[in-house]
Amino acid sequence: MAAVLLLLSLGFLAVHAGLPAEELRSRERIFLSSMGLSERPRPGPRAAGSRGARRLVPAELWRMFRRSESSEARDGDSCTVAEYGVPGNIIRFVQDQGQMASPGIGSSQTKRLFFNMSVLQPVEQLSLAQLEIRFLWKPLRSSELLKGSRAVNVSLYGVVRATLREADPLAGRRLLLTRSVRLLPDAPPLTLNLTALAESWRKPGRNYGLVLEALPFGTGDGVGARPLDEDPAAPQIRASLVAVSLNPQQCRSRQRRSTVRVPVLPSNVCKARRLYIDFKEVGWQGWIIAPQGYMANYCHGECPFPLSESLNGTNHAILQTLVHSLDPRGTPPPCCVPVRLAPISMLYYDNNDNVVLRHYQDMVVDECGCR
Ligand SMILES: *[C@@H]1O[C@H](CO)[C@@H](O)[C@H](O)[C@H]1NC(C)=O
Ligand SMILES: *[C@@H]1O[C@H](CO)[C@@H](O)[C@H](O)[C@H]1NC(C)=O
Ligand SMILES: *[C@@H]1O[C@H](CO)[C@@H](O)[C@H](O)[C@H]1NC(C)=O
Ligand SMILES: *[C@@H]1O[C@H](CO)[C@@H](O)[C@H](O)[C@H]1NC(C)=O
Repeated sequence: MAAVLLLLSLGFLAVHAGLPAEELRSRERIFLSSMGLSERPRPGPRAAGSRGARRLVPAELWRMFRRSESSEARDGDSCTVAEYGVPGNIIRFVQDQGQMASPGIGSSQTKRLFFNMSVLQPVEQLSLAQLEIRFLWKPLRSSELLKGSRAVNVSLYGVVRATLREADPLAGRRLLLTRSVRLLPDAPPLTLNLTALAESWRKPGRNYGLVLEALPFGTGDGVGARPLDEDPAAPQIRASLVAVSLNPQQCRSRQRRSTVRVPVLPSNVCKARRLYIDFKEVGWQGWIIAPQGYMANYCHGECPFPLSESLNGTNHAILQTLVHSLDPRGTPPPCCVPVRLAPISMLYYDNNDNVVLRHYQDMVVDECGCR
């Protein structure tokens, strides 16, 4: 509720009451921190240009976002991610920030993978970290595709401690996976559960990343096992880490939303009013991917004596209206306030240019009452 009020003051008071810029920035900071952000994300240079140049939103995230928008999902449990079957209200596609390392032993190619897990707030409980490695590849000749003969042998290592450049490159590594991957266009990604390791990466200075070795083989038609970076038909390696976490502070069990519609009352009586918040008006269209805005609503109206049942008054509010009717100057009437709020889901870029899907509670006024 505080968040909604803040957002309201951001978008509307700012325009209509001419708040000083400093005051506005401080309100924005409070709201962003309630969203778990240290500052307004400014998606990186790739994102600054045309829409097409922006870091793509993974199709899985779009699907999850659309599902969370459907009305039955809003009634369901917003603290479980059904797609992965784990508790959580935040889903991040953490970007790989590792570099291509020097060519490895023989014709293999070595790539460092680094996922900054410090983007998780300390309060969050990590429930799943799943590594996804894609080999993007286009066959040079259709015969390659028909034979399905190109493949890479993949070895993945966790780096458990920093080693000097001159030291044995295999020291300080722990083998996590070896797999032979057949190269096919649109092949599903190689996935690996890295929850325990990713949890250890959250401690400052303890993330040495991963090392991926890819060795091409089995070309059979004279292409040979050349280093991948010299091979025009070499696959591009793309890795991302799907991190599902739970912020328990933003997770309460919720009552089912009522299907009863607001009864027709004289318009000056306390009730929920329609209010659409457009993120463009707040200047957030650059980092909020979806929705572009939402129906936040607000409560407004009188709480007249005698307080009818439809106004959802507490016993205290009923007494307060009674006292107010006897002594209007001495005691104010109860206030028309939200008594039931609903969550929304938001898809956005965080400060590290990761794509995040997050469920926020108490963003929509569903019902009002006199309190
Ligand atoms: C990881 O992310 C945190 C929080 O956004 C940031 O302060 C830190 O500099 C990042 N570390 C690296 C190595 O990019
Ligand atoms: C992933 O691994 C963790 C332990 O590291 C385990 O508790 C969890 O059940 C695994 N999740 C899946 C989906 O396999
Ligand atoms: C790739 O791995 C398979 C087994 O997984 C092995 O039989 C084969 O020799 C390996 N190829 C190369 C070129 O290392
Ligand atoms: C009071 O609550 C009922 C359901 O509990 C709801 O139908 C009604 O709209 C609420 N009253 C107001 C003023 O929102």
